[in-house]
Amino acid sequence: MFRIQPLVSVLLCCFTFWFHISFGYLITCSGIVPMRYRKDKVSITDFGGVGDGKTLNTKAFREAIYRIQHLRRRGGTLLYVPPGVYLTESFNLTSHMTLYLARGAVIKATQDTWKWPLVAPLPSYGRGRERPGGRYMSFIHGDGLRDVVISGENGTIDGQGGIWWNMWRQGNLQFTRPNLVEFMNSRGIIISNVIFKNSPFWNIHPVYCSNVVIRYVTILAPTDSPNTDGIDPDSSSNVCIEDSFISTGDDLVAVKSGWDEYGIGYGRPSSHITIRRVTGSSPFAGIAVGSETSGGVEHVLAENIVIYNSGIGVNIKTNIGRGGFIKNITVSQVFMENVRTGIKIAGDTGDHPDNRFNPNALPYVKGVTLKNIWGVKVQKAGSIQGLKNAPFTNICLSKINLHGMTGPRSPPWKCSDVSGAAIEVSPSPCAQLSSPQQSGSCANHF
Ligand SMILES: *[C@@H]1O[C@H](CO)[C@@H](O)[C@H](O)[C@H]1NC(C)=O
Ligand SMILES: *[C@@H]1O[C@H](CO)[C@@H](O)[C@H](O)[C@H]1NC(C)=O
Repeated sequence: MFRIQPLVSVLLCCFTFWFHISFGYLITCSGIVPMRYRKDKVSITDFGGVGDGKTLNTKAFREAIYRIQHLRRRGGTLLYVPPGVYLTESFNLTSHMTLYLARGAVIKATQDTWKWPLVAPLPSYGRGRERPGGRYMSFIHGDGLRDVVISGENGTIDGQGGIWWNMWRQGNLQFTRPNLVEFMNSRGIIISNVIFKNSPFWNIHPVYCSNVVIRYVTILAPTDSPNTDGIDPDSSSNVCIEDSFISTGDDLVAVKSGWDEYGIGYGRPSSHITIRRVTGSSPFAGIAVGSETSGGVEHVLAENIVIYNSGIGVNIKTNIGRGGFIKNITVSQVFMENVRTGIKIAGDTGDHPDNRFNPNALPYVKGVTLKNIWGVKVQKAGSIQGLKNAPFTNICLSKINLHGMTGPRSPPWKCSDVSGAAIEVSPSPCAQLSSPQQSGSCANHF
């Protein structure tokens, strides 16, 4: 089910090859967070952990992490999880630790949803994302931390989300479902070489964080699992995501920054977000910005992306009432195959936390560059629809080739309340983007 199609792998390979020969070297996230070697090591089995898939290991995880927190070994401590299936309730990480999953290690979330702890809503959302009030704590949680690594030999963190998806489907969720891994107010985080599976809600959620590296991860959830976003950098800066495969039931990567009046009030943008060499499939968007962008989103670079069997390739979404800004977004070197809409930039996404949002809080969208994007079996090339009282400006399209289902012709682009420029775009874009007087403002993006 999660197999990359052979055609896609061949093209990904060519892309990577092309990238190598054009730039000569591979750019990576290294340097954003220094990799840590921890001399002090403990194993979950030292704390009574049993990997039989049945024993509840909550006490073992909590005691191991309590020990790491209070003994404060120089250089931090590595918590080793050996092969086996470790069932546990949610737990909090601490600073200066590595959670290390051996090959064949699985940390599995309990299905006792009624015992799941609640935490306060995020101030930039004002309430839980899907239900009013508090929200269930993420399965693996960190608040106010620094220097934390989750890594190993591609062991698995399994949220067993099915029970939560059914509560959502049956409409009997009391509070917002838990994320699989969430870091809040933290810095110096590395997540690498881990498989994330069946998250109840979003998979990896860094919020109010800085200096976060996520690489060599695999994130899997069924296509019909509700809201299982892959990675959502939220009101965070210096986040680097690379070399990962993501196939879930919602956006693969979505950059966010708070919701309507709460996000505007909190005022914490997402900035300097890099996403590269990510491949995957989503019924919604591959690369997304939004729709919660009330704190602002700027300096996003996504490159060398492969999206297949998806709803939308690249999606920038906001709304009246969101306020905030979306600027300096660059997406380049994208290959897509079998997607419904190649590119969508929209100001009418809907979805408010409550009816206290300010209808005059219009989003400001300026400086979006999309270049070197190639797609086959793309049903609709794209639509760029700004807001009447807040048109989207400096929208620059360059070298975009989106082929339809049965040949090179896709239906035309739909545009409104937008300005910018386009060069070498097929099918040819709407007139609003060809205005020569605006191409000057796009020139340095091309
Ligand atoms: C884990 O962290 C949350 C949020 O910071 C806190 O409410 C909760 O009490 C902590 N749980 C434990 C077991 O320490
Ligand atoms: C883990 O998975 C990543 C990404 O798929 C891969 O690059 C890496 O070689 C794997 N590591 C191990 C130790 O198997």
